[in-house]
Amino acid sequence: MGSIRRTAVSLTVLLAVLACSPSNGSAAPTSARPAAGDAGAPGIGDADFPLDGNGGYDVAHYGLRLDYDPRKRHLNGAAAIQARATQRLSQFNLDLSGFDIGGVSVDDREATYSRSGDELTVIPAAPVAEGDRFTVKITYSGTPRPVKNAANLGTYGWIPTSDGAFVTCEPNGARTWFPANDHPADKARFDFEITVPRGLTALANGELAGKPETSGGKTTFTWRERHPMVTYLATATLGRFELRQGKTAAGLQNLVAVDPEFRSSLERVYTTTGAITDYWSTVFGAYPFSSTGGVVDNFPTGYALENQTKPMYGGFDPGESIIAHELAHQWFGNSLSIKRWRDLWLNEGFATYAEWLWSEHTGKGRAQETFDTAYARGADDPIWSYPPGRARPTDLFNESIYTRGAMTLHALRVAIGDPAFFRLLKEWNAQHRYEHVTTAQFIALAEKVSGKQLDNLFDTWLFQPRRPPASS
Ligand code: TRP
Ligand code: ZN
Repeated sequence: MGSIRRTAVSLTVLLAVLACSPSNGSAAPTSARPAAGDAGAPGIGDADFPLDGNGGYDVAHYGLRLDYDPRKRHLNGAAAIQARATQRLSQFNLDLSGFDIGGVSVDDREATYSRSGDELTVIPAAPVAEGDRFTVKITYSGTPRPVKNAANLGTYGWIPTSDGAFVTCEPNGARTWFPANDHPADKARFDFEITVPRGLTALANGELAGKPETSGGKTTFTWRERHPMVTYLATATLGRFELRQGKTAAGLQNLVAVDPEFRSSLERVYTTTGAITDYWSTVFGAYPFSSTGGVVDNFPTGYALENQTKPMYGGFDPGESIIAHELAHQWFGNSLSIKRWRDLWLNEGFATYAEWLWSEHTGKGRAQETFDTAYARGADDPIWSYPPGRARPTDLFNESIYTRGAMTLHALRVAIGDPAFFRLLKEWNAQHRYEHVTTAQFIALAEKVSGKQLDNLFDTWLFQPRRPPASS
């Protein structure tokens, strides 16, 4: 990993190089396509989202240089993507939605490309050998368009606001602002260089990697996320913001930014974020990243997203419960990430259970009471017919994934007892820090830590389309 300065320089060089090279990409002839056997797959292998992510390579680092004009809603982008080929690649794909492409190079040699839907196919001048590291650079420009999805996913991605943009990308909206291997199965580190009109603030993941620099009426913010991150957690939210910066009681950097409309929330969100981050570090194990924080924007989505190091709250004053939820995701979802969307309860069930634990910790009601209330829902409540262990692509964020997912954890806690349960949460995090996890791995670890046979418990709670009997 180079320093931020090196990244900035290489991106500047990239822009200069691409500005001088003739654009031949858009006319890439089909006949230029080499044997299909060496082509990277257009999807990473998640059968529920067959074109999400791509095959044949692993991204190590995204260097993103963005210049956004909120008045024109225009984005100029330059991406430098460092990857390693997991097969010989005569061509490979990235996910990118919209934009005009200025140029594409692989290892600084001009490449051709073609586009079909959200698939950008890059054809390097010479195939990349299996195991080789390579860098693909892409310049692009245009008006980012958020995804407006019919499958119960709402609007997500790069969403323009009155003063900038609100950028929340779960599950596959990273492609609305940068070329990406857009699936959680491929994590990478990120550097951001974001230029906005003077007076605005750009907020990305990780920490500021230098003082913001202003010249010619524009300010450039450089951010670095030095820990692995999935693409849907990346953000470049920008607009008018007021900042509160400092350290948590345990000494972790904490940065909260609020739209001026939410000025009166700033101090409270900052303090609550610090206290909850520190508390979760005692329950789940060491905080996985280099800073904590949050962003409250005035864009009224009514939802929140656990963007790495900077959860985003859309148009409301977040209470303790939702802050506890989004910060728990820093462990469950962000440090430990799913390989397939069907395992989403490993994110949302755990973050929801964290809300119950926070309520218990602050004396506002024990997890058992929250469980009992949920269990008392009518037999025809939709959470009983939707087994949370297998999230459905057409209804990914169903309430069952959250509530019945959390109930699963509570049933587990009752079955194995508090000492084993809380040892399990820490062990789960320690074993898989920064990596990927599956439901089967969690069940196996729960059995190992508790010494109990738990197949029946997990089967009834996660996989059966009915309300589990009271004893399980
Ligand atoms: N993961 C979010 C949460 O539970 C919910 C969510 C799903 C979301 N998709 C989103 C939020 C898209 C913002 C944008 O906290
Ligand atoms: Zn969540």
